[in-house]
Amino acid sequence: MLVLGIETTCDETAAAVVERRADGSGRILSNIVRSQIDEHAPFGGVVPEIAARAHVDLLDGIVANAMREAGTGFAQLSGVAAAAGPGLIGGVIVGLTTAKAIALVHNTPLIAVNHLEAHALTPRLTDATEFPYCLFLASGGHTQIVAVLGVGDYVRLGTTVDDAIGEAFDKIAKMLGLPYPGGPQVERAAASGDAARFAFPRPMLGRPDANFSLSGLKTAVRNEASRLTPLEPQDINDLCAGFQAAVLDSMADRLGAGLRLFRERFGAPKALVAAGGVAANQAIRRPLREVAAKAQTTLMVPPPALCTDNGAMIAWAGAERLALGLTDTMDAAPRARWLLDANATAPGKFANTRAGF
Ligand code: KG4
Ligand code: ZN
Repeated sequence: MLVLGIETTCDETAAAVVERRADGSGRILSNIVRSQIDEHAPFGGVVPEIAARAHVDLLDGIVANAMREAGTGFAQLSGVAAAAGPGLIGGVIVGLTTAKAIALVHNTPLIAVNHLEAHALTPRLTDATEFPYCLFLASGGHTQIVAVLGVGDYVRLGTTVDDAIGEAFDKIAKMLGLPYPGGPQVERAAASGDAARFAFPRPMLGRPDANFSLSGLKTAVRNEASRLTPLEPQDINDLCAGFQAAVLDSMADRLGAGLRLFRERFGAPKALVAAGGVAANQAIRRPLREVAAKAQTTLMVPPPALCTDNGAMIAWAGAERLALGLTDTMDAAPRARWLLDANATAPGKFANTRAGF
């Protein structure tokens, strides 16, 4: 089956066509991502109104390109999928409405996909990963450890009580005067920095639950930065290196706890999967591999272009749902908030502060 996928929940306008074969394997026929970095960079972060307007301007052309590159027509599609949330509501409305229009005109099924589910199912597209597996989802809006038991069957084992990891990277970058988006900038600066120069805290270390907290670390970096102002380039590199090392230590400890909880409740996971924009960070690979090895499982990280937001993951999640007969009606609502695990409750305030996800 061929599925068109549309992603407009944040600052990427994306569309892709993905094939799902009868044996459950997948193939990407096209995957077009137009980042809105240039539109938002002057403001140092994503401006929801600008994002929604840009999605309106860009989406039709991107869908047309994705269809052309895939060499397919709308009549050949088995379904059209759109990320219906969670995300910035203006953008979500643009993507979902476009998908509904295509579905209606071409009389093809609509699949309203949860953006987090799409990140969660990506390793099945890239590596045919079998259920159950343990997902570490770290993006600008979310930090979660999730037991992925089947399509639509997720149990959240841990989440952040304050900032998402990508959000913390972005805030540190902004604080140090690095351009938006901050994650890759902090990673680059950290590569030339001395992580041992500052003794930053390792949040939540040793706790039996699998939750994250990053605001204390962020404050520690801010205090150190203001003490050193004006900052020399080497100070910035060292602050980034110290911050990244603390995040990685905390992450490794929290994932260790998450994998223990996974094993207690669901047995051995088939893999530890890292997804979301932060998984594009190269420095997190080694600690992730070590955590996976300690838990006697293998690490799976999709290629960077499929870790950050894209249309192929939406198309694939749509195809997985369609294969199970899970389609949606024209009443499907755009959702700013949409928990992956219907039973999950937040440990403190809900997962993140960015953009009201
Ligand atoms: O999944 P994603 O593309 O969009 C969301 O759903 O949020 O993730 C974007 C986030 C941003 O916060 C960005 O700074 C972060 O992922 N990110 C990184 C890196 N590349 C992207 N964080 C750390 N290191 C990176 N190399
Ligand atoms: Zn995402």
